[in-house]
Amino acid sequence: MAKITVDLGAPIKRLSTGIAGLDDMLYGGIPEGSQNMIIGDSGSGKTLLSFQIAYNAARSGIPATILTIDQTANDLLRNALSAFPGFTDAKELMDKGLLNIVEMELLEEFKSRESITYFISEIVKGVRMNDSKLLVFDSLSVLRALSADDRSFTRMVNYMVESFHNIDLTSIITMEVPPTSGDSAKIPGLYEESMFDGVIRLSNMKRAGATEHLTSVIKLRFSKYKSSTTPLEITPNGVIVRNRQASL
Ligand SMILES: Nc1ncnc2c1ncn2[C@@H]1O[C@H](COP(=O)(O)OP(=O)(O)OP(=O)(O)O)[C@@H](O)[C@H]1O
Ligand SMILES: [Mg+2]
Repeated sequence: MAKITVDLGAPIKRLSTGIAGLDDMLYGGIPEGSQNMIIGDSGSGKTLLSFQIAYNAARSGIPATILTIDQTANDLLRNALSAFPGFTDAKELMDKGLLNIVEMELLEEFKSRESITYFISEIVKGVRMNDSKLLVFDSLSVLRALSADDRSFTRMVNYMVESFHNIDLTSIITMEVPPTSGDSAKIPGLYEESMFDGVIRLSNMKRAGATEHLTSVIKLRFSKYKSSTTPLEITPNGVIVRNRQASL
């Protein structure tokens, strides 16, 4: 009888977000090669947080791409640097090819499988330009609006996520969701959320006339995580997640 050997594989590698409090909630960072969503209310910090994660990866020598669909690459960069004036080396990282910001303008509905295949192949082409290990996709909300119905939207997102998985890309995909969905990992318009390995939820909370931002990890496959809801602060030197256990 042949002896069966069980290969338990190497421990998972993680991509640090570069944000101490968030890394702490994620037990070290986002599992490499995983497909993740940052969902949340409008203005809750999805674009800035995902920008910073890509910027931090690039600073540590990991090539990253930010694909913007919501706005032009220039507008995204200009606003991110106006929010984070401390990120003085962002342009240098772009010149070195460590941080790529690319835009895609989508005007027409996705009517055929060919148009979806073309769209995804263009993303993969963009990612290969600097051999990116991390892709930030901002945001899925436009794609939903351009899909004929939720079934075709789900099919498209599934195909996109599978394509990223097949090339071992770690992705962070943003999407605006209404505040009512609470702690559920359910994403409006998607029939099936199991395609995403991780879901981070951001929200706005009005307190004493000011808006506070909150973050919580609501799903993380392959890893433990802390599910507490934690304040997220946008400062000139970047996002701070004030997790009690983390040293800032
Ligand atoms: N240039 C800036 N300077 C200072 N604060 C900013 C700047 N841009 C955005 N902010 C603050 O950061 C918060 C988060 O902005 P961000 O664009 O990341 O939100 P979002 O979740 O992507 O919103 P949307 O759903 O509208 O795309 C905003 O509510 C705003 O308070
Ligand atoms: Mg945004």
